[in-house]
Formats: sequence, C-alpha cells, structure tokens
Amino acid sequence: MRPRARRFQLRARARICYVEAVSTQELPADSLRASDAYRLMISLVAPRPIAWVSTLDRAGRGNIAPYSYFQAVCSSPPTIVLGIGSRPDGTAKDTLANILDRREFVVNHVSEPFAEVMNASSAPYEPGVSEWEALGIEPEASTAVAPPRVRGARASLECRLQQAIPLGQGPNGAPSSTLVIARVVHFHLAEGLLERDERGRLKAIDPARLAAVGRLGGIAYTTTAGRFDLPRPPAPPPARDRE
Ligand SMILES: Cc1cc2nc3c(=O)[nH]c(=O)nc-3n(C[C@H](O)[C@H](O)[C@H](O)COP(=O)(O)O)c2cc1C
Repeated sequence: MRPRARRFQLRARARICYVEAVSTQELPADSLRASDAYRLMISLVAPRPIAWVSTLDRAGRGNIAPYSYFQAVCSSPPTIVLGIGSRPDGTAKDTLANILDRREFVVNHVSEPFAEVMNASSAPYEPGVSEWEALGIEPEASTAVAPPRVRGARASLECRLQQAIPLGQGPNGAPSSTLVIARVVHFHLAEGLLERDERGRLKAIDPARLAAVGRLGGIAYTTTAGRFDLPRPPAPPPARDRE
C-alpha cells in the first residue's frame, strides 16, 4: 500500500492552500457517556450563537436564562430552534416549563457588554426567583408577546411556540432534552443597525455593530472580532468546459 500523503492540496478558485494530513480517532455515539457526548457536542459544534431567553411563568413572574443549543432554521417564516435539556432529576428547566405554559418568549441578542450578566443568569435560581431582579437586568415591554425583552439588547426576537419535540431518554422517564421550534413574530433592532440599499432592500447588518458573543466548548467564548469576508462563488462552469 502506498503511504498516505502527509500534506494535501485544497483548491478554491485560483487560490491553493495546503492542510496537514491527520490521523483520526473514532467514537461510536452510542458508546458515549451523556457527559462526554455533551462535551463533544458543545466543543465541535462551535461557535454557537446564544439565545438569552426571556419567559413568564403562570403567575406572570419573569425568568431569563441563556441557551446556546440555538439556531435560525428558516427565513420564511422566520423560525428558530432551541434545545432545552432536562434537569438531572428529570424536571423541566423554568424556561421550558414557561414556554410550554404560555407558548411565547423573547430571544435577546447577547453582545459583549452583556456576556457576564448573561452567564450569571444561568445559575440555577429557584423557580419563581426572578433573575431580572437578582442581577439588575432591566426589562422593556415587548410588542406582540407578553414576556419582556432586555433593555439595551442590540436585537430581540419575539417568538411563538410552534412545536416542542422530546428527544432521547433522561432521568425519571423524562426526555433528555426538548427541541423547541418557534416562529419569530416581531423583531427589535437597535437604532443604526438597519440600512437599506437604493432599492429599499435591507442590507446585511454590520457584525462589528452587533458585537455578538458566541459560545465555544467548556467555558470558552468568542467574539466576531476576527471576522473575514468570503464572496459567494459563481456557478461552476458546465462539465464539458472544465476538461
Ligand atoms: C452560554 C450558556 C449556554 C447554555 N446553553 C444551554 C442550552 O443550550 N441548553 C440547556 O439546557 N442549558 C443551557 N445552559 C444552561 C442553562 O442556562 C441553565 O441550566 C439555567 O439554569 C436554566 O435556567 P432556567 O431553569 O431558568 O431555564 C447554558 C448556559 C450558558 C452559560
């Protein structure tokens, strides 16, 4: 057998770059302890955006907590997903209990000045204890849903629950996690973020102005400071022209 090349070429249009060959280790997913699978997932699927989720309980008390199993999955209609794990005793986290009860919530954008308080709001406060009051987070009224948004957040997405899908097997017969699928019904954006082109279409928002924080593995976070641009590639030429 020929020895495997130690270095190989990647071709992207005119530019060629070289990457080091690596040997890989394999792990069948069903052989993993739940805690190890968690560490792999949050390290490998990274950076992840952070949804700072504001909800109300049945009595109308506010709750806010961060979730980084969070993604945008559809633009029309605007749709997001959250993955909310069950607590070690199998009970639902306050955010999930409130979303299932009231079917609405707000995803607040986390910019750099909010990173520490966002993290502090992940502490396991007793149900009914408001992280808003405990941490001095200031609420501002939402427009289409009852839970408030965060004053000073550069963007907030008001959401309505579409579907909650239990995933896996957790403690005491609970799912290990619940996938929440929700529709964004109203957007709030800080003044100065929205710009339109000459045809009135919204331009992409400048990432530097959003100053988003992303979550990596463990307790590591990142910012958008090291950004670079890649224009979309043109359609490849038909196969016969490539020979
Ligand atoms: C940056 C960050 C991201 C998090 N992402 C998730 C997540 O995606 N899913 C989850 O179940 N818990 C996640 N957590 C943990 C919850 O925030 C934590 O369990 C919190 O106490 C839940 O609060 P609640 O019971 O008020 O909803 C995350 C914590 C931090 C700091």
